[in-house]
Amino acid sequence: TLDNTMTSIYDKLSTIFSAAISAAFPDIPDAPVVIALSGNNPKFGDYQCNSAMPIANLFKQQGKKIPPQEIAKQIVEQVPQTDIIDKLEIAGPGFINIFLSKSYASHILQNVLKYGVLPPLLKKKLRVVVDFSSPNIAKEMHVGHLRSTIIGDAIARLLEYLGYDVLRINHIGDWGTQFGMLIAHLKDKYSDYLNRMPPLENLQNFYKESKKRFDDDPEFKKRAYECVVKLQSKEPDYIKAWEMICDLSRKEFQKIYDRLDIKLTEMGESFYQTHMEDVVKLLENKGLLENDNGRKIMWGDKEIPMTIVKSDGGFTYDTSDMATIKYRIDELNGDWLIYLTDAGQATHFQLLFKCAENAGFFDKKKVRLDHVTFGVVLGEDRKKFKTRSGDTVKLIDLLDEGLKRALDKLKEKERDKVLTPEELKQAQEAVAYGCIKYADLSHNRNHEYVFSFDKMLEDKGNTAVYLLYAYTRIRSIARNANIDSEKMKELIEKHNVSLDHEKEWKLGKVLLRFPDVLFKITEDLCLHHLCEYLYEISCAFTEFYDSCYCIEKDSSGDIVKVNVGRILLTEVTALIMAKCFDILGVKPVSKM
Ligand code: ARG
Repeated sequence: TLDNTMTSIYDKLSTIFSAAISAAFPDIPDAPVVIALSGNNPKFGDYQCNSAMPIANLFKQQGKKIPPQEIAKQIVEQVPQTDIIDKLEIAGPGFINIFLSKSYASHILQNVLKYGVLPPLLKKKLRVVVDFSSPNIAKEMHVGHLRSTIIGDAIARLLEYLGYDVLRINHIGDWGTQFGMLIAHLKDKYSDYLNRMPPLENLQNFYKESKKRFDDDPEFKKRAYECVVKLQSKEPDYIKAWEMICDLSRKEFQKIYDRLDIKLTEMGESFYQTHMEDVVKLLENKGLLENDNGRKIMWGDKEIPMTIVKSDGGFTYDTSDMATIKYRIDELNGDWLIYLTDAGQATHFQLLFKCAENAGFFDKKKVRLDHVTFGVVLGEDRKKFKTRSGDTVKLIDLLDEGLKRALDKLKEKERDKVLTPEELKQAQEAVAYGCIKYADLSHNRNHEYVFSFDKMLEDKGNTAVYLLYAYTRIRSIARNANIDSEKMKELIEKHNVSLDHEKEWKLGKVLLRFPDVLFKITEDLCLHHLCEYLYEISCAFTEFYDSCYCIEKDSSGDIVKVNVGRILLTEVTALIMAKCFDILGVKPVSKM
Protein backbone atom coordinates (compact mmCIF):
# COMPACT_ATOMS: atom_id res chain seq x y z
CA THR A 1 0.00 0.00 0.00
CA LEU A 2 1.14 3.52 -0.68
CA ASP A 3 0.87 6.41 1.71
CA ASN A 4 1.10 10.06 0.75
CA THR A 5 4.66 10.57 1.92
CA MET A 6 7.63 10.48 -0.39
CA THR A 7 8.93 6.95 0.00
CA SER A 8 12.63 6.29 -0.11
CA ILE A 9 13.29 4.39 -3.33
CA TYR A 10 16.49 3.09 -1.86
CA ASP A 11 14.73 1.66 1.21
CA LYS A 12 12.04 0.12 -0.87
CA LEU A 13 14.45 -1.59 -3.25
CA SER A 14 16.63 -2.71 -0.34
CA THR A 15 13.66 -4.36 1.32
CA ILE A 16 12.62 -6.13 -1.87
CA PHE A 17 16.11 -7.39 -2.67
CA SER A 18 16.90 -8.31 0.88
CA ALA A 19 13.87 -10.61 0.91
CA ALA A 20 14.74 -12.02 -2.51
CA ILE A 21 18.32 -12.73 -1.49
CA SER A 22 17.33 -14.49 1.74
CA ALA A 23 14.80 -16.55 -0.16
CA ALA A 24 17.34 -17.52 -2.81
CA PHE A 25 20.23 -18.16 -0.42
CA PRO A 26 18.92 -19.09 3.02
CA ASP A 27 22.31 -20.61 3.86
CA ILE A 28 24.08 -17.28 3.53
CA PRO A 29 22.52 -15.29 6.36
CA ASP A 30 24.67 -12.18 6.11
CA ALA A 31 24.52 -11.77 2.36
CA PRO A 32 25.09 -8.10 1.56
CA VAL A 33 22.28 -6.14 -0.06
CA VAL A 34 24.00 -3.64 -2.33
CA ILE A 35 21.73 -1.15 -4.09
CA ALA A 36 23.21 1.72 -6.09
CA LEU A 37 22.28 4.25 -8.72
CA SER A 38 23.02 3.08 -12.24
CA GLY A 39 24.86 6.05 -13.65
CA ASN A 40 24.00 7.89 -16.81
CA ASN A 41 23.50 5.23 -19.45
CA PRO A 42 19.76 4.39 -19.61
CA LYS A 43 20.73 0.96 -20.93
CA PHE A 44 21.80 -0.03 -17.42
CA GLY A 45 18.48 0.85 -15.86
CA ASP A 46 17.90 3.30 -13.04
CA TYR A 47 19.26 1.43 -10.05
CA GLN A 48 21.37 -1.68 -9.69
CA CYS A 49 21.58 -4.51 -7.26
CA ASN A 50 25.24 -5.51 -7.02
CA SER A 51 24.97 -8.31 -4.49
CA ALA A 52 25.79 -11.23 -6.78
CA MET A 53 29.56 -10.72 -6.79
CA PRO A 54 30.04 -10.54 -3.01
CA ILE A 55 27.68 -13.50 -2.56
CA ALA A 56 29.75 -15.52 -5.05
CA ASN A 57 32.78 -14.70 -2.91
CA LEU A 58 31.03 -15.92 0.23
CA PHE A 59 30.27 -19.21 -1.54
CA LYS A 60 33.85 -19.45 -2.64
CA GLN A 61 34.94 -19.23 1.00
CA GLN A 62 32.69 -22.23 1.63
CA GLY A 63 34.43 -24.04 -1.20
CA LYS A 64 31.54 -23.69 -3.66
CA LYS A 65 32.06 -22.17 -7.06
CA ILE A 66 28.94 -20.51 -8.40
CA PRO A 67 29.25 -17.91 -11.17
CA PRO A 68 27.84 -14.53 -10.14
CA GLN A 69 25.56 -14.47 -13.19
CA GLU A 70 23.92 -17.62 -11.90
CA ILE A 71 23.50 -16.02 -8.48
CA ALA A 72 22.00 -12.91 -10.07
CA LYS A 73 19.56 -15.12 -11.94
CA GLN A 74 18.45 -16.84 -8.76
CA ILE A 75 17.95 -13.50 -7.01
CA VAL A 76 15.89 -12.16 -9.91
CA GLU A 77 13.69 -15.26 -9.80
CA GLN A 78 12.80 -14.45 -6.19
CA VAL A 79 11.79 -10.83 -6.81
CA PRO A 80 8.00 -10.72 -6.87
CA GLN A 81 5.89 -8.48 -9.06
CA THR A 82 5.90 -5.08 -7.39
CA ASP A 83 4.54 -1.65 -8.15
CA ILE A 84 7.97 -0.03 -8.10
CA ILE A 85 9.92 -2.22 -10.55
CA ASP A 86 9.17 -2.30 -14.24
CA LYS A 87 11.76 -4.88 -15.26
CA LEU A 88 15.07 -6.44 -14.21
CA GLU A 89 18.00 -7.34 -16.44
CA ILE A 90 21.22 -9.13 -15.70
CA ALA A 91 24.34 -7.63 -17.20
CA GLY A 92 28.11 -8.11 -17.20
CA PRO A 93 29.57 -10.13 -14.34
CA GLY A 94 26.26 -10.29 -12.46
CA PHE A 95 24.86 -6.80 -12.11
CA ILE A 96 21.10 -6.70 -11.80
CA ASN A 97 19.82 -3.62 -13.59
CA ILE A 98 16.62 -2.28 -12.11
CA PHE A 99 14.19 -0.31 -14.27
CA LEU A 100 11.79 1.76 -12.18
CA SER A 101 8.15 1.79 -13.06
CA LYS A 102 7.03 5.09 -14.52
CA SER A 103 3.52 4.71 -13.24
CA TYR A 104 4.86 4.26 -9.72
CA ALA A 105 7.06 7.33 -10.13
CA SER A 106 4.21 9.34 -11.49
CA HIS A 107 2.05 8.27 -8.55
CA ILE A 108 4.62 9.54 -6.05
CA LEU A 109 5.07 12.85 -7.85
CA GLN A 110 1.32 13.24 -8.15
CA ASN A 111 1.10 12.83 -4.37
CA VAL A 112 3.60 15.63 -3.96
CA LEU A 113 1.33 17.86 -6.02
CA LYS A 114 -1.72 16.87 -4.04
CA TYR A 115 -0.38 16.78 -0.51
CA GLY A 116 2.85 18.75 -0.60
CA VAL A 117 6.35 17.45 -0.05
CA LEU A 118 5.59 15.20 2.90
CA PRO A 119 8.70 13.75 4.53
CA PRO A 120 9.35 10.02 4.31
CA LEU A 121 8.14 8.11 7.34
CA LEU A 122 10.58 8.11 10.20
CA LYS A 123 11.42 4.72 11.68
CA LYS A 124 11.83 6.18 15.14
CA LYS A 125 11.11 9.67 16.39
CA LEU A 126 14.16 10.62 18.39
CA ARG A 127 14.76 13.67 20.50
CA VAL A 128 17.79 15.53 19.18
CA VAL A 129 19.64 18.23 21.08
CA VAL A 130 21.53 20.47 18.68
CA ASP A 131 24.05 22.78 20.34
CA PHE A 132 25.01 25.43 17.83
CA SER A 133 26.03 29.06 17.38
CA SER A 134 27.09 29.33 21.05
CA PRO A 135 29.07 32.60 21.00
CA ASN A 136 30.78 34.05 24.04
CA ILE A 137 29.50 37.03 26.00
CA ALA A 138 31.37 40.30 25.47
CA LYS A 139 33.68 38.69 22.98
CA GLU A 140 33.42 38.93 19.26
CA MET A 141 30.83 36.73 17.60
CA HIS A 142 33.14 35.81 14.77
CA VAL A 143 32.86 34.08 11.41
CA GLY A 144 33.45 30.73 13.09
CA HIS A 145 30.26 31.27 15.08
CA LEU A 146 28.55 32.29 11.86
CA ARG A 147 29.46 28.92 10.34
CA SER A 148 28.23 27.13 13.44
CA THR A 149 24.99 29.14 13.26
CA ILE A 150 24.33 28.48 9.60
CA ILE A 151 25.27 24.79 9.58
CA GLY A 152 23.58 24.12 12.92
CA ASP A 153 20.37 25.78 11.81
CA ALA A 154 20.30 23.73 8.60
CA ILE A 155 20.86 20.49 10.52
CA ALA A 156 18.06 21.42 12.91
CA ARG A 157 15.78 22.30 9.99
CA LEU A 158 16.51 19.02 8.25
CA LEU A 159 15.80 16.97 11.36
CA GLU A 160 12.66 18.98 12.13
CA TYR A 161 11.41 18.38 8.63
CA LEU A 162 12.03 14.66 8.98
CA GLY A 163 9.91 14.68 12.11
CA TYR A 164 12.54 14.48 14.84
CA ASP A 165 11.90 16.29 18.08
CA VAL A 166 14.62 18.92 17.95
CA LEU A 167 15.88 21.21 20.72
CA ARG A 168 17.97 24.09 19.41
CA ILE A 169 20.34 25.05 22.18
CA ASN A 170 22.52 28.15 22.31
CA HIS A 171 25.31 27.23 24.69
CA ILE A 172 26.44 30.79 25.26
CA GLY A 173 29.76 31.35 27.01
CA ASP A 174 28.22 33.37 29.82
CA TRP A 175 30.24 32.17 32.79
CA GLY A 176 33.87 31.96 33.71
CA THR A 177 36.82 33.98 34.84
CA GLN A 178 36.55 36.58 32.09
CA PHE A 179 33.62 38.10 34.02
CA GLY A 180 35.98 38.97 36.87
CA MET A 181 37.89 41.48 34.80
CA LEU A 182 34.77 42.76 33.08
CA ILE A 183 33.05 43.47 36.38
CA ALA A 184 36.16 44.98 37.97
CA HIS A 185 36.54 47.28 34.99
CA LEU A 186 32.84 48.14 35.05
CA LYS A 187 33.05 49.14 38.72
CA ASP A 188 36.07 51.35 38.06
CA LYS A 189 34.80 52.99 34.93
CA TYR A 190 31.10 53.35 35.72
CA SER A 191 30.89 53.28 39.51
CA ASP A 192 27.24 54.28 39.28
CA TYR A 193 26.37 51.23 37.17
CA LEU A 194 23.70 50.04 39.60
CA ASN A 195 21.65 53.19 39.10
CA ARG A 196 22.50 54.19 35.59
CA MET A 197 22.90 51.91 32.63
CA PRO A 198 26.46 52.42 31.38
CA PRO A 199 26.85 53.35 27.71
CA LEU A 200 28.39 50.11 26.55
CA GLU A 201 27.34 50.04 22.92
CA ASN A 202 30.75 48.79 22.04
CA LEU A 203 31.11 45.85 24.35
CA GLN A 204 34.04 44.45 22.41
CA ASN A 205 36.08 47.56 23.10
CA PHE A 206 35.13 47.32 26.73
CA TYR A 207 36.32 43.72 26.69
CA LYS A 208 39.61 44.76 25.12
CA GLU A 209 40.15 47.51 27.67
CA SER A 210 39.53 45.14 30.57
CA LYS A 211 41.76 42.50 29.05
CA LYS A 212 44.57 44.99 28.63
CA ARG A 213 44.34 46.07 32.26
CA PHE A 214 44.14 42.44 33.34
CA ASP A 215 47.29 41.59 31.45
CA ASP A 216 49.25 44.72 32.41
CA ASP A 217 48.24 45.51 35.98
CA PRO A 218 48.79 42.87 38.72
CA GLU A 219 46.70 44.81 41.23
CA PHE A 220 43.75 44.87 38.81
CA LYS A 221 44.23 41.21 38.12
CA LYS A 222 43.95 40.44 41.81
CA ARG A 223 40.72 42.43 42.07
CA ALA A 224 39.38 40.69 38.98
CA TYR A 225 39.83 37.32 40.67
CA GLU A 226 38.08 38.61 43.77
CA CYS A 227 35.20 39.62 41.56
CA VAL A 228 34.96 36.10 40.20
CA VAL A 229 34.66 34.72 43.71
CA LYS A 230 31.97 37.27 44.59
CA LEU A 231 30.07 36.52 41.40
CA GLN A 232 30.21 32.81 42.06
CA SER A 233 28.93 33.28 45.57
CA LYS A 234 26.07 35.19 43.98
CA GLU A 235 26.52 38.60 45.62
CA PRO A 236 23.64 40.70 44.27
CA ASP A 237 25.66 43.66 42.94
CA TYR A 238 27.94 41.33 41.06
CA ILE A 239 25.09 39.30 39.67
CA LYS A 240 23.52 42.56 38.53
CA ALA A 241 26.70 43.60 36.73
CA TRP A 242 26.98 40.17 35.13
CA GLU A 243 23.37 40.28 33.95
CA MET A 244 23.89 43.73 32.52
CA ILE A 245 26.87 42.65 30.48
CA CYS A 246 25.12 39.48 29.30
CA ASP A 247 22.03 41.42 28.25
CA LEU A 248 24.04 43.80 26.13
CA SER A 249 25.73 40.93 24.33
CA ARG A 250 22.49 39.06 23.93
CA LYS A 251 20.93 42.03 22.13
CA GLU A 252 23.82 42.11 19.68
CA PHE A 253 23.57 38.37 19.01
CA GLN A 254 19.82 38.64 18.53
CA LYS A 255 20.26 41.17 15.73
CA ILE A 256 22.22 38.60 13.76
CA TYR A 257 19.73 35.82 14.51
CA ASP A 258 16.79 37.99 13.46
CA ARG A 259 18.36 38.88 10.17
CA LEU A 260 19.24 35.28 9.36
CA ASP A 261 15.95 33.95 10.75
CA ILE A 262 17.59 31.67 13.30
CA LYS A 263 15.64 30.33 16.28
CA LEU A 264 17.57 29.30 19.37
CA THR A 265 16.88 28.60 23.00
CA GLU A 266 19.51 29.98 25.29
CA MET A 267 20.92 27.58 27.84
CA GLY A 268 24.41 28.82 28.41
CA GLU A 269 27.33 27.77 30.56
CA SER A 270 25.98 29.52 33.67
CA PHE A 271 22.93 27.28 33.54
CA TYR A 272 25.16 24.34 34.46
CA GLN A 273 26.50 25.74 37.77
CA THR A 274 24.87 23.24 40.10
CA HIS A 275 24.99 20.50 37.52
CA MET A 276 28.75 20.84 37.37
CA GLU A 277 28.99 20.44 41.13
CA ASP A 278 26.87 17.30 40.91
CA VAL A 279 28.91 15.87 38.07
CA VAL A 280 32.15 16.42 39.96
CA LYS A 281 30.75 14.65 43.02
CA LEU A 282 29.55 11.79 40.87
CA LEU A 283 32.91 11.35 39.16
CA GLU A 284 34.65 11.58 42.48
CA ASN A 285 32.42 8.89 43.99
CA LYS A 286 33.07 6.63 41.04
CA GLY A 287 36.77 7.06 41.68
CA LEU A 288 37.36 8.43 38.21
CA LEU A 289 39.23 11.58 39.20
CA GLU A 290 42.96 11.60 39.68
CA ASN A 291 44.89 14.19 41.64
CA ASP A 292 47.52 15.91 39.56
CA ASN A 293 49.38 18.62 41.49
CA GLY A 294 46.17 19.84 43.06
CA ARG A 295 43.99 19.71 40.02
CA LYS A 296 41.56 16.90 39.41
CA ILE A 297 41.86 15.22 36.07
CA MET A 298 40.14 12.44 34.19
CA TRP A 299 41.55 10.22 31.46
CA GLY A 300 39.86 9.18 28.25
CA ASP A 301 41.89 7.18 25.78
CA LYS A 302 44.18 10.05 24.83
CA GLU A 303 47.59 11.22 25.94
CA ILE A 304 46.03 14.33 27.42
CA PRO A 305 43.50 14.19 30.26
CA MET A 306 40.53 16.49 30.89
CA THR A 307 40.73 18.97 33.74
CA ILE A 308 37.60 18.58 35.80
CA VAL A 309 38.56 20.79 38.74
CA LYS A 310 41.36 23.38 38.63
CA SER A 311 43.81 23.64 41.52
CA ASP A 312 41.97 26.75 42.77
CA GLY A 313 38.75 24.73 42.89
CA GLY A 314 37.24 26.30 39.79
CA PHE A 315 35.57 24.45 36.97
CA THR A 316 36.60 24.39 33.32
CA TYR A 317 35.15 24.07 29.84
CA ASP A 318 35.68 20.32 30.26
CA THR A 319 33.60 20.29 33.44
CA SER A 320 30.79 22.23 31.82
CA ASP A 321 30.65 19.85 28.88
CA MET A 322 30.61 16.77 31.10
CA ALA A 323 27.57 18.45 32.64
CA THR A 324 25.96 19.20 29.27
CA ILE A 325 26.16 15.56 28.22
CA LYS A 326 24.67 14.28 31.43
CA TYR A 327 21.94 16.92 31.55
CA ARG A 328 20.95 16.55 27.93
CA ILE A 329 20.63 12.79 28.21
CA ASP A 330 19.05 12.54 31.67
CA GLU A 331 16.96 15.68 31.93
CA LEU A 332 16.28 16.66 28.33
CA ASN A 333 15.82 13.00 27.34
CA GLY A 334 18.08 13.42 24.35
CA ASP A 335 18.54 10.32 22.19
CA TRP A 336 20.97 12.12 19.94
CA LEU A 337 23.29 14.96 20.94
CA ILE A 338 24.90 17.14 18.29
CA TYR A 339 27.58 19.72 19.08
CA LEU A 340 28.82 22.19 16.49
CA THR A 341 32.16 23.92 16.73
CA ASP A 342 35.18 24.48 14.54
CA ALA A 343 37.55 21.57 13.98
CA GLY A 344 39.94 23.08 16.54
CA GLN A 345 37.81 21.53 19.28
CA ALA A 346 37.88 18.02 17.84
CA THR A 347 40.17 16.66 20.56
CA HIS A 348 38.06 18.21 23.30
CA PHE A 349 34.96 16.40 22.07
CA GLN A 350 36.66 13.06 21.40
CA LEU A 351 37.98 13.12 24.91
CA LEU A 352 34.66 14.29 26.31
CA PHE A 353 32.63 11.56 24.60
CA LYS A 354 35.09 8.92 25.76
CA CYS A 355 35.10 10.19 29.36
CA ALA A 356 31.30 10.40 29.43
CA GLU A 357 31.17 6.83 28.19
CA ASN A 358 33.71 5.66 30.78
CA ALA A 359 31.68 7.41 33.47
CA GLY A 360 28.62 5.45 32.37
CA PHE A 361 26.64 8.54 31.41
CA PHE A 362 25.04 6.77 28.49
CA ASP A 363 24.55 3.52 26.69
CA LYS A 364 26.42 3.63 23.42
CA LYS A 365 23.73 1.58 21.72
CA LYS A 366 20.98 3.96 22.75
CA VAL A 367 22.46 7.43 22.45
CA ARG A 368 24.12 8.91 19.40
CA LEU A 369 26.73 11.63 19.90
CA ASP A 370 28.10 13.77 17.11
CA HIS A 371 30.64 16.51 17.11
CA VAL A 372 30.00 18.33 13.86
CA THR A 373 33.12 20.24 12.94
CA PHE A 374 33.94 22.70 10.23
CA GLY A 375 37.07 24.27 8.80
CA VAL A 376 38.23 27.84 9.27
CA VAL A 377 36.96 30.74 7.19
CA LEU A 378 39.61 32.36 5.02
CA GLY A 379 39.70 35.67 3.22
CA GLU A 380 40.20 35.91 -0.52
CA ASP A 381 43.94 36.06 0.08
CA ARG A 382 43.60 32.60 1.68
CA LYS A 383 44.73 34.07 4.98
CA LYS A 384 42.66 34.32 8.14
CA PHE A 385 39.48 36.28 7.45
CA LYS A 386 40.13 39.91 8.46
CA THR A 387 39.15 43.41 7.39
CA ARG A 388 41.57 45.38 5.23
CA SER A 389 42.94 47.08 8.31
CA GLY A 390 43.54 43.71 9.95
CA ASP A 391 40.65 43.72 12.44
CA THR A 392 38.23 40.87 12.94
CA VAL A 393 35.18 41.34 10.76
CA LYS A 394 32.02 42.29 12.64
CA LEU A 395 29.20 40.01 11.60
CA ILE A 396 26.69 42.84 11.34
CA ASP A 397 29.01 44.69 8.96
CA LEU A 398 29.40 41.52 6.93
CA LEU A 399 25.63 41.13 6.59
CA ASP A 400 25.32 44.80 5.64
CA GLU A 401 27.92 44.41 2.96
CA GLY A 402 26.03 41.36 1.71
CA LEU A 403 22.89 43.48 1.38
CA LYS A 404 24.73 46.16 -0.52
CA ARG A 405 26.42 43.71 -2.85
CA ALA A 406 23.15 41.88 -3.49
CA LEU A 407 21.45 45.12 -4.47
CA ASP A 408 24.32 46.00 -6.83
CA LYS A 409 23.94 42.60 -8.42
CA LEU A 410 20.20 42.99 -8.92
CA LYS A 411 20.68 46.46 -10.40
CA GLU A 412 23.37 45.16 -12.70
CA LYS A 413 20.75 42.75 -14.02
CA GLU A 414 18.29 45.65 -14.22
CA ARG A 415 15.86 43.98 -11.87
CA ASP A 416 15.13 47.33 -10.27
CA LYS A 417 13.37 48.30 -13.49
CA VAL A 418 10.88 45.42 -13.41
CA LEU A 419 10.32 44.74 -9.73
CA THR A 420 8.27 46.85 -7.35
CA PRO A 421 10.31 48.39 -4.49
CA GLU A 422 8.83 45.79 -2.13
CA GLU A 423 9.76 42.91 -4.46
CA LEU A 424 13.21 44.34 -4.95
CA LYS A 425 13.78 44.50 -1.21
CA GLN A 426 12.66 40.89 -0.80
CA ALA A 427 14.93 39.79 -3.62
CA GLN A 428 17.81 41.73 -2.09
CA GLU A 429 17.45 40.01 1.27
CA ALA A 430 16.91 36.61 -0.33
CA VAL A 431 20.08 37.01 -2.37
CA ALA A 432 22.21 38.51 0.41
CA TYR A 433 21.42 36.11 3.24
CA GLY A 434 20.81 33.25 0.83
CA CYS A 435 24.22 33.57 -0.74
CA ILE A 436 26.05 33.82 2.58
CA LYS A 437 24.30 30.71 3.90
CA TYR A 438 24.49 28.79 0.65
CA ALA A 439 28.19 29.43 0.10
CA ASP A 440 28.86 28.00 3.54
CA LEU A 441 26.55 25.02 3.21
CA SER A 442 27.55 24.05 -0.32
CA HIS A 443 31.16 23.50 0.68
CA ASN A 444 32.13 20.31 2.40
CA ARG A 445 32.08 21.55 5.97
CA ASN A 446 35.24 19.63 6.82
CA HIS A 447 37.29 21.85 4.56
CA GLU A 448 38.36 25.40 5.22
CA TYR A 449 36.45 27.81 3.09
CA VAL A 450 37.20 31.08 1.37
CA PHE A 451 34.68 33.81 2.04
CA SER A 452 34.23 35.75 -1.18
CA PHE A 453 31.22 37.88 -2.06
CA ASP A 454 32.33 37.87 -5.70
CA LYS A 455 32.22 34.09 -5.80
CA MET A 456 28.99 33.66 -3.91
CA LEU A 457 27.21 36.24 -6.05
CA GLU A 458 28.18 34.60 -9.32
CA ASP A 459 25.11 33.72 -11.34
CA LYS A 460 26.56 30.56 -12.86
CA GLY A 461 27.31 27.24 -11.24
CA ASN A 462 26.25 25.90 -7.89
CA THR A 463 25.50 29.25 -6.23
CA ALA A 464 22.48 30.67 -4.44
CA VAL A 465 22.04 33.35 -7.09
CA TYR A 466 21.93 30.84 -9.91
CA LEU A 467 19.52 28.58 -8.06
CA LEU A 468 17.24 31.36 -6.89
CA TYR A 469 16.98 32.57 -10.48
CA ALA A 470 16.37 29.05 -11.72
CA TYR A 471 13.61 28.69 -9.17
CA THR A 472 11.86 31.95 -10.11
CA ARG A 473 12.09 31.00 -13.78
CA ILE A 474 10.43 27.64 -13.08
CA ARG A 475 7.79 29.39 -11.01
CA SER A 476 7.05 31.76 -13.88
CA ILE A 477 6.23 29.03 -16.39
CA ALA A 478 2.77 28.27 -15.04
CA ARG A 479 2.18 31.97 -14.50
CA ASN A 480 2.95 32.65 -18.16
CA ALA A 481 0.47 29.97 -19.14
CA ASN A 482 -2.13 31.89 -17.12
CA ILE A 483 -2.43 29.12 -14.56
CA ASP A 484 -3.14 30.48 -11.09
CA SER A 485 -3.22 28.34 -7.96
CA GLU A 486 -6.95 27.57 -8.34
CA LYS A 487 -6.46 26.44 -11.88
CA MET A 488 -3.41 24.45 -10.83
CA LYS A 489 -5.47 22.51 -8.27
CA GLU A 490 -7.95 21.64 -10.96
CA LEU A 491 -5.23 20.43 -13.31
CA ILE A 492 -3.67 18.28 -10.60
CA GLU A 493 -6.98 16.50 -10.05
CA LYS A 494 -7.47 15.76 -13.73
CA HIS A 495 -4.01 15.23 -15.20
CA ASN A 496 -0.84 13.28 -14.54
CA VAL A 497 2.76 14.39 -14.38
CA SER A 498 4.33 13.64 -17.72
CA LEU A 499 7.33 11.27 -17.63
CA ASP A 500 7.41 9.87 -21.17
CA HIS A 501 10.07 11.95 -22.82
CA GLU A 502 13.62 10.87 -21.98
CA LYS A 503 14.36 14.25 -20.35
CA GLU A 504 11.12 14.27 -18.40
CA TRP A 505 11.97 10.84 -17.03
CA LYS A 506 15.48 11.92 -16.17
CA LEU A 507 14.19 14.90 -14.19
CA GLY A 508 11.47 12.81 -12.56
CA LYS A 509 14.02 10.29 -11.30
CA VAL A 510 16.17 13.03 -9.79
CA LEU A 511 13.11 14.34 -7.94
CA LEU A 512 12.32 10.88 -6.60
CA ARG A 513 15.71 10.76 -4.91
CA PHE A 514 14.81 13.55 -2.49
CA PRO A 515 14.16 11.31 0.56
CA ASP A 516 17.34 9.35 -0.05
CA VAL A 517 19.43 12.48 -0.19
CA LEU A 518 18.00 13.53 3.17
CA PHE A 519 18.61 10.14 4.77
CA LYS A 520 22.20 10.21 3.63
CA ILE A 521 22.65 13.58 5.32
CA THR A 522 21.30 12.24 8.60
CA GLU A 523 24.26 9.86 8.52
CA ASP A 524 27.18 12.21 7.90
CA LEU A 525 25.49 15.56 8.65
CA CYS A 526 27.07 17.10 5.57
CA LEU A 527 24.68 19.60 4.00
CA HIS A 528 26.65 19.99 0.80
CA HIS A 529 24.92 16.83 -0.47
CA LEU A 530 21.67 18.76 -0.44
CA CYS A 531 23.22 21.71 -2.30
CA GLU A 532 24.63 19.36 -4.92
CA TYR A 533 21.23 17.76 -5.23
CA LEU A 534 19.53 21.12 -5.66
CA TYR A 535 22.00 21.97 -8.39
CA GLU A 536 21.40 18.60 -10.01
CA ILE A 537 17.66 19.28 -10.05
CA SER A 538 18.17 22.62 -11.72
CA CYS A 539 20.51 21.11 -14.34
CA ALA A 540 18.07 18.28 -15.08
CA PHE A 541 15.33 20.88 -15.31
CA THR A 542 17.29 22.97 -17.81
CA GLU A 543 17.86 19.89 -19.98
CA PHE A 544 14.17 19.08 -19.84
CA TYR A 545 13.09 22.63 -20.58
CA ASP A 546 15.49 22.93 -23.50
CA SER A 547 14.03 19.92 -25.25
CA CYS A 548 10.42 19.86 -24.10
CA TYR A 549 7.90 22.61 -24.80
CA CYS A 550 5.59 23.36 -21.92
CA ILE A 551 3.78 26.12 -23.75
CA GLU A 552 3.61 26.56 -27.50
CA LYS A 553 3.05 30.00 -28.94
CA ASP A 554 2.25 31.08 -32.45
CA SER A 555 4.20 33.70 -34.38
CA SER A 556 2.24 36.53 -32.78
CA GLY A 557 3.10 35.25 -29.31
CA ASP A 558 -0.32 33.88 -28.46
CA ILE A 559 -0.47 30.64 -26.54
CA VAL A 560 -1.76 27.89 -28.81
CA LYS A 561 -1.05 24.88 -26.68
CA VAL A 562 -0.28 24.13 -23.06
CA ASN A 563 1.26 20.76 -22.23
CA VAL A 564 -0.36 20.17 -18.86
CA GLY A 565 1.65 17.07 -17.91
CA ARG A 566 4.83 19.09 -18.32
CA ILE A 567 3.46 22.07 -16.42
CA LEU A 568 2.78 19.64 -13.59
CA LEU A 569 6.36 18.40 -13.79
CA THR A 570 7.61 21.99 -13.45
CA GLU A 571 5.32 22.40 -10.45
CA VAL A 572 6.71 19.33 -8.65
CA THR A 573 10.22 20.51 -9.42
CA ALA A 574 9.46 23.87 -7.85
CA LEU A 575 7.89 22.27 -4.78
CA ILE A 576 10.87 20.04 -4.13
CA MET A 577 13.35 22.84 -4.78
CA ALA A 578 11.45 25.05 -2.37
CA LYS A 579 11.67 22.33 0.27
CA CYS A 580 15.43 22.08 -0.27
CA PHE A 581 15.77 25.85 0.12
CA ASP A 582 13.68 25.69 3.23
CA ILE A 583 15.90 23.04 4.80
CA LEU A 584 18.98 25.09 3.94
CA GLY A 585 17.43 28.18 5.53
CA VAL A 586 17.44 30.02 2.20
CA LYS A 587 14.29 31.96 1.30
CA PRO A 588 13.35 31.88 -2.35
CA VAL A 589 11.19 34.63 -3.83
CA SER A 590 8.65 34.13 -6.56
CA LYS A 591 9.83 37.19 -8.48
CA MET A 592 13.40 38.19 -8.92
N1 ARG B 1 31.39 29.01 23.30
C1 ARG B 1 32.22 28.05 22.62
C2 ARG B 1 33.15 28.75 21.64
O1 ARG B 1 32.91 29.87 21.25
C3 ARG B 1 31.41 27.03 21.87
C4 ARG B 1 30.54 26.16 22.73
C5 ARG B 1 30.10 24.92 22.02
N2 ARG B 1 29.28 24.09 22.85
C6 ARG B 1 29.70 23.33 23.83
N3 ARG B 1 28.82 22.65 24.53
N4 ARG B 1 30.98 23.20 24.13
O2 ARG B 1 34.13 28.17 21.23
